[in-house]
Amino acid sequence: MAKPPKFQAIRGTRDLLPPETALWNRVEENARHVFGTFGFGEIRPPVFEPTELFARAVGGETDIVSKEMYTFADQTGQSEEASSLATRHSPLATSISLRPEATASVCRAYIEHNMQQLPQPQKLYYLGPMFRRERPQKGRYRQFYQIGAEVLGGSDAPAIDAEVIEMVMTFFNRLQLPGVQLDVNSIGHAADNCRRGYVAALKSALEKVKDKLGADSQRRIETNPLRVLDSKLEHEQPIIETLPRIADHLCDDCKAHYAAVKCQLELRGVLYKENWRLVRGLDYYMRTTFEITAQGLGSQNAVCGGGRYDGLVELLGGPPTKGIGFAIGEDRLILSLLEGLKSQGGSPNSPLAAGHSPLVYIAWMGEHVCATAIRAAKDLRNAGFSVELPPTEQKFGKALERASKLGSRYALILGDNEVAEGSWTLKTLADGSQQKFTEPELLEFLRSSRG
Ligand code: HAM
Repeated sequence: MAKPPKFQAIRGTRDLLPPETALWNRVEENARHVFGTFGFGEIRPPVFEPTELFARAVGGETDIVSKEMYTFADQTGQSEEASSLATRHSPLATSISLRPEATASVCRAYIEHNMQQLPQPQKLYYLGPMFRRERPQKGRYRQFYQIGAEVLGGSDAPAIDAEVIEMVMTFFNRLQLPGVQLDVNSIGHAADNCRRGYVAALKSALEKVKDKLGADSQRRIETNPLRVLDSKLEHEQPIIETLPRIADHLCDDCKAHYAAVKCQLELRGVLYKENWRLVRGLDYYMRTTFEITAQGLGSQNAVCGGGRYDGLVELLGGPPTKGIGFAIGEDRLILSLLEGLKSQGGSPNSPLAAGHSPLVYIAWMGEHVCATAIRAAKDLRNAGFSVELPPTEQKFGKALERASKLGSRYALILGDNEVAEGSWTLKTLADGSQQKFTEPELLEFLRSSRG
């Protein structure tokens, strides 16, 4: 018989494994905690939505929508039996996409559930996988994870922008993320004399230097001139420095809003750097935009991006609604935390392994001991201790070897004598010392050594 094929995770996707998943869980617990203290509740939207939702919200001309979405046809108006492979491409098919981001879904949910009738603003956060068909590299995956938050409804008070940014910075501080830098900008709004005026000025300046730009930037002069400012190409940098700047084109309202956001950030002790080139790659933004970079990430160093998007809910068929939010790239956040641990001299695994190793390894031997070992494991686990119970008896030497390999702190030795006497031996593996306990004494000892 032919050997079955060896399957591998699809390019750009990966398995997250222990002990690293312990760090992921810790990060997520911290996010839930910090966001909870700012009054945010969790939303869990589906991972696929109509393609049209993303095309409308994120923008049909953006890289995300035009090149990177995983899109497929699905059947509508037919029973499941009828939706066979043969009919999958019938005219009844709707186009569906795996979500490349979640702001569009949160706005769709806000409209669908009439959340504008609830107390405003609604503050929502989400965690989960997103999908973009980008070229994989360090910190860039085709399935990646975001931790995001959105504030929908209510006013566009600059204090809301500042509080959202303060929240993500508080979260990063709590995680001791190394080398955090916050960049902010205002990209004005879509009205005539604000962003439109700026884009016209930028376009005409770009036309004049078109020959010196690369192919991507040349194309963007037509499709989305703002994105030229995002270019990382070295030879384009001196040219970009000479281009008109948005700050000189903001209308009075946008200027005042931006000044107040900066003032509010200062009031909250949030350090920031102004970056006039920060335009972001999604079409829904207006006024405040921000990005946060961290250490140890190479070229993909943006660990969080966000901004204001008043008007997006309306664009998706809802009432006029203010909106602002951000999304953290969790994969990059974890990478940066691991790099930080490494540069502090610690092995990246040690602080994680601690959460994964069993505290107590039950070294049991003897047919009559089995029932006691099972009961001991149950009682210790019920008391909240992690326990490894080998499925078959082992010679004590072998058991102790395995206990150390797993990183256990203690081995609980249960043999015929211990069971007969009702007095159990606990061996501390680091120094080999042994103590005898009755079962209640053992629980008490472990509780007190937990601190
Ligand atoms: P974004 O800038 O497209 O914004 O993504 C936010 C973050 O997700 C990025 O800063 C990065 O850390 C991470 N990220 C993006 N693509 C990848 C990838 N291929 N691999 C790994 N990480 C990635 C948004 O998605 C907006 N929805 C953010 C937002 C929410 N704005 C307002 N509300």
